[in-house]
Amino acid sequence: MYELYTVLAEYYDAIYRRRAERVGKEIDFVEELFREDAEREVRRILDLACGTGIPTLELAGRGYEVVGLDLHEEMLAVARRKAEREGLSVEFIHGNALEIDFEEEFDAVTMFFSSIMYFDDSAIQQLFNSVKRALKPGGVFIADTPGWNIVGGNEPIVWDERKGDERLIITDWREVEPAFQKLHFKRLVQIMTPDGSVRAFMVDDELNIYTPRELRLLAEGHFRKVKIYGDLHELRPNDRRYWLVAVK
Ligand SMILES: C[S@@+](CC[C@H](N)C(=O)[O-])C[C@H]1O[C@@H](n2cnc3c(N)ncnc32)[C@H](O)[C@@H]1O
Repeated sequence: MYELYTVLAEYYDAIYRRRAERVGKEIDFVEELFREDAEREVRRILDLACGTGIPTLELAGRGYEVVGLDLHEEMLAVARRKAEREGLSVEFIHGNALEIDFEEEFDAVTMFFSSIMYFDDSAIQQLFNSVKRALKPGGVFIADTPGWNIVGGNEPIVWDERKGDERLIITDWREVEPAFQKLHFKRLVQIMTPDGSVRAFMVDDELNIYTPRELRLLAEGHFRKVKIYGDLHELRPNDRRYWLVAVK
């Protein structure tokens, strides 16, 4: 578990290049949610599970005061280097989202790109408690997750990317335990250098699948107002990603 965020941390942005390219659109949507759903002006944001800072730095670049927190120092090292290169000031903290101890410090808390799937039934309750405590009254929690309909397919997906002069061949497949709503996310990453040498890494993560209704019901136990959006718009019948928006 967590190979993607440790031994492969330096390759994370190359693996998710296409997602990084659309992060501007995601953050446009998030800013719309700040305006429509938050019940206070959003200036200070806690980005939980910030990883290499793809959304964190996009938010910081738009003028928000952002704190990024992640479980893996390897990911934070990449995020700090990028922030420095882009001249952005972001505080990056090494820590577990379940152990945060902020008291009414943030206007918004975010958790992007399926990170909420790392939290099982009891952890997600603990997470909602800590997030609620970290938010100021009227502050908003935003998290996105893929739909049940897309995590189900178990045909391997193969694609390639580049990092400098290295070529990556990435093979993904998924094994789902429907009764337990567990997703075993498997990924083989082969890294080829121009001299022909190959290194291979195996990712094997256990994730939790939440339906939009489950997310809403769980969040309603902690937050005053909860809404589920679809993929960068109002919820539609066949959306492939969901956005949870919960107001303290
Ligand atoms: C799919 S990545 C998403 C990274 C980033 N949010 C993004 O949008 O690119 C998931 C991240 O969750 C982090 N993570 C997993 N469990 C965590 C926890 N309990 N506390 C903090 N971070 C966690 C991992 O280290 C990893 O960086």
